[in-house]
Amino acid sequence: MKSKIHIVGTGPGSKEYLTKKAIKTVENANIIIGSERTIELFENIDHKLPFNAKNLMKKIEEGIDLAINGQNVAILSTGDPGFSGILNSVLKIANKKKYPLENIEVIPGISSIQLAAAKNHLQWDNCNITTFHGRENIGDILKIINNNKTTIALPSKKVKDMAKFLIDNGISPDRKVIICERLSYDDEKIIHTTLKEIANIELTYMCIMIL
Ligand SMILES: C[S@@+](CC[C@H](N)C(=O)[O-])C[C@H]1O[C@@H](n2cnc3c(N)ncnc32)[C@H](O)[C@@H]1O
Repeated sequence: MKSKIHIVGTGPGSKEYLTKKAIKTVENANIIIGSERTIELFENIDHKLPFNAKNLMKKIEEGIDLAINGQNVAILSTGDPGFSGILNSVLKIANKKKYPLENIEVIPGISSIQLAAAKNHLQWDNCNITTFHGRENIGDILKIINNNKTTIALPSKKVKDMAKFLIDNGISPDRKVIICERLSYDDEKIIHTTLKEIANIELTYMCIMIL
C-alpha cells in the first residue's frame, strides 16, 4: 500500500464539529500526530505522537519520516489546516524531504473564524478575514479596519495587546468589538464590548475578535 500523509482539520474544539471524513481518516491511519487537545477528540488512539508548541516541527518531521517508511500518517490541525494552521509547515518539510505532493491529502475542518461568523449571523464573504497569529505584521490591520466592512481577526498574542495597539494607532477606544472565546466548548463566551473595555476583561488565548 502506498503511504499517505493526511493533514486533518479537527474543527474549533468540540467533537460535534468533527467531520465524518476526519474521523474515518484518523481511524484508518497508523500514526496520529497532533496536540493533546486535538488527539483527545478521537477514541481508541494507540499510535500517537503528541506535540506541543516547542516540539511541533520535530514531531512533524518524525511523521513525514514515518510516511517515507510506508506508514499512513494523520497530522491533526485545529480548525482548518489552511487557516493559521500547520498546512504550510507540513508541505515545506515534506518538500524538503522529497515526499510526493500527490500522496498528501488535506481534509478541511470548520475554522474558528467560520464558527465566529456563524454565531454572530455574519455572511463572511462580506467581511475582512485576517490572522495575526504568530505574526509580526499586526500593523496590516490598520489598512483594512476602516473600509466599512466587518473585520474578523484571529488576534496576535493577547487580545489586550491587540486592543491597545489599535487604540495607540488612532482607532477610537469606543469602537465596538465582539470577542468570541472558546467557541464550541461548554464555557464558550460571546462578549460584546469596546476596545477600551478589553483591558479590564480576563481572556484566554483562544479568542476571535470581530470589529
Ligand atoms: C494556531 S491558530 C489555529 C487556527 C485554526 N487553524 C482555525 O482554523 O481555527 C490558534 C488560534 O485560533 C483561535 N481559535 C482556535 N480555536 C478557537 C476556538 N474554539 N474559539 C476561539 N478561538 C479559537 C485562537 O485565536 C487561537 O489562538
